Amino acid sequence: MCGIVGYIGGRQAVPILLEGLKRLEYRGYDSAGIAVVAEGRVLVEKKAGKISDLIAHLQGRDLPGTVGIGHTRWATHGEPNDTNAHPHVDCTGEIALIHNGIIENYAALKAELIAKGHRFRTETDTEALAHLIEEFYRRNGSLEESVRSALLQVQGTFGIAVISRREPDLLVAARRGSPLVLGLGEREYFLASDPNALVPFTQHVMYLDDDEVAVVRKDGLLVKTLRDVTVEKKAVELGLDLERIEKGGYPHFMLKEIMEQPETIQDSMRGRLLPEEGTARLGGIQHEIPSLLYARRMLFTACGTSWHAALIGEYLIEEFVRTPVEVEYASEFRYRDPVIDRDTVVWAISQSGETADTLAAIREAKRKGAKVFGICNVVGSSIARETDAGIYLHAGPEIGVASTKAFTSQVTVLTLLALLLGRMRSLSAAQGREMVAHLQALPSKVRRALANSDQVKEIAELYKNSRNFLYLGRGYNFPVALEGALKLKEISYIHAEGYPAAEMKHGPIALIDENMPVVFIATRDATYDKILNNIQEVKARRGRVIAVATEGDTEITRYVDHVLYVPETPHFLNPIVSIIPLQLLAYHIAVLRGCNVDQPRNLAKSVTVE
Ligand code: G6P
Repeated sequence: MCGIVGYIGGRQAVPILLEGLKRLEYRGYDSAGIAVVAEGRVLVEKKAGKISDLIAHLQGRDLPGTVGIGHTRWATHGEPNDTNAHPHVDCTGEIALIHNGIIENYAALKAELIAKGHRFRTETDTEALAHLIEEFYRRNGSLEESVRSALLQVQGTFGIAVISRREPDLLVAARRGSPLVLGLGEREYFLASDPNALVPFTQHVMYLDDDEVAVVRKDGLLVKTLRDVTVEKKAVELGLDLERIEKGGYPHFMLKEIMEQPETIQDSMRGRLLPEEGTARLGGIQHEIPSLLYARRMLFTACGTSWHAALIGEYLIEEFVRTPVEVEYASEFRYRDPVIDRDTVVWAISQSGETADTLAAIREAKRKGAKVFGICNVVGSSIARETDAGIYLHAGPEIGVASTKAFTSQVTVLTLLALLLGRMRSLSAAQGREMVAHLQALPSKVRRALANSDQVKEIAELYKNSRNFLYLGRGYNFPVALEGALKLKEISYIHAEGYPAAEMKHGPIALIDENMPVVFIATRDATYDKILNNIQEVKARRGRVIAVATEGDTEITRYVDHVLYVPETPHFLNPIVSIIPLQLLAYHIAVLRGCNVDQPRNLAKSVTVE
């Protein structure tokens, strides 16, 4: 959610902090701030708004210093304004702290600290932590020790970084539930909540684990537990380059990510298809195949777009593997005491690998004794590390807040899973080979669907002022309807609902009139005739129909107002091609309405608070 950066070394900290913050802005963007230790003082500057507002605010201010921290906020406690922006300081202004997460017991801590004479200036939960650290610091004079002691009293989640005037060559960072990664340079260290921010500076990184504290000095780094036990950590290579996290000539990250899907889908399949044997190889789960194959039940848990991919996963696994699947929102799963036994395997699906609810669902499933597998995009993320085994998407960093390429890669990987397990059940070699061939043809079909972007834009022009949209689909295209509606509401702020097409009669049909655009995903498959009936029902009530249909289907033009064609593909791969025009429709409408598509209001890329 919020983004954290830090620097300690021989260079000026501020330009490095600002560069890092710009790369993290997609995570939270209601306010930002920095703090540096300079000339025996901690200097703090913060501003409501975007990083560009902070940069404008810093113009002409002299902020020297080679140790500093920076933060971009997504408000949880206290409205987004200059005061509530991070960093937060203690009573004396001696220490400055940035925080990602939620201090759940902050109200009790705050009351205690106020009783002890501390003066609070903000409405944030974070400020309580700054004062709590101060309380210990007054007594023991060691920032490191004070941070550890304070965190032992904290309930909730945190990724924090702290600096102090009294110890100008020290940066202390700690995490529980919110990601933190250290970048290792030559006599300099970087800190970030997301490896993307480190790419311009170093490729050598070290991930902090929960309840670990990093004590960072220019000439050395020590990682300890909260209880002061030194931890041996290994550095790993990031394997990301700048080109992959920049816009590459596109006006928005979202459009770049939509357009690169032929390649990202290919990357998700690379080295994983075995055409001769008609199956797939998934290295990350190969040693776990028996537990997957003999599971009596699979449970997919996820949030947002990943939850939509999970719904498609349910259709795929049940069709090809014949194992019963349930799909559950992670936020419900974690508090519902779900029935899990030895024969259930749980799959957590997450682009970022950091979503707090999904992470908590994994922990709950593990407590109940289940094997938990992950499908993640971000290598080394918390979910990737906490699951027993898993599959990476290899779709590259996704920066646009509305997920696009991660979705198609998730569905691709789920198809590979269905193929692999299906071949060990009832699928014949010939059927497997056919599926492989269809998968191989997928990237070029997605490329063809993308080529219609201009036509989608023309339709976007016509409907950009609509107040509501309905998205309808059946079978594999029902989750596509949900995802198409989610994309539109996320970035254009138009109310949109996705529904199974036949359910329309049980409610949404009441909404239909000449002002209601209805998007039907009506590709040619077993449900096609039924969908045509549903289209007629909408037309009979003067609704405006935009259909996503299979190339060559001229019949449909008789019933609908607009057709967006996608290449023909077997029903189980339909979602990957039929979502393309819907992503583009949401994108073009949002741009035409003047919305900030990469950073839609109130949303965050990675939701690390529950
Ligand atoms: C946020 C993002 C969505 C994403 C969801 C789940 O809401 O804005 O795009 O689908 O989180 O995130 P995950 O990283 O777990 O897939």
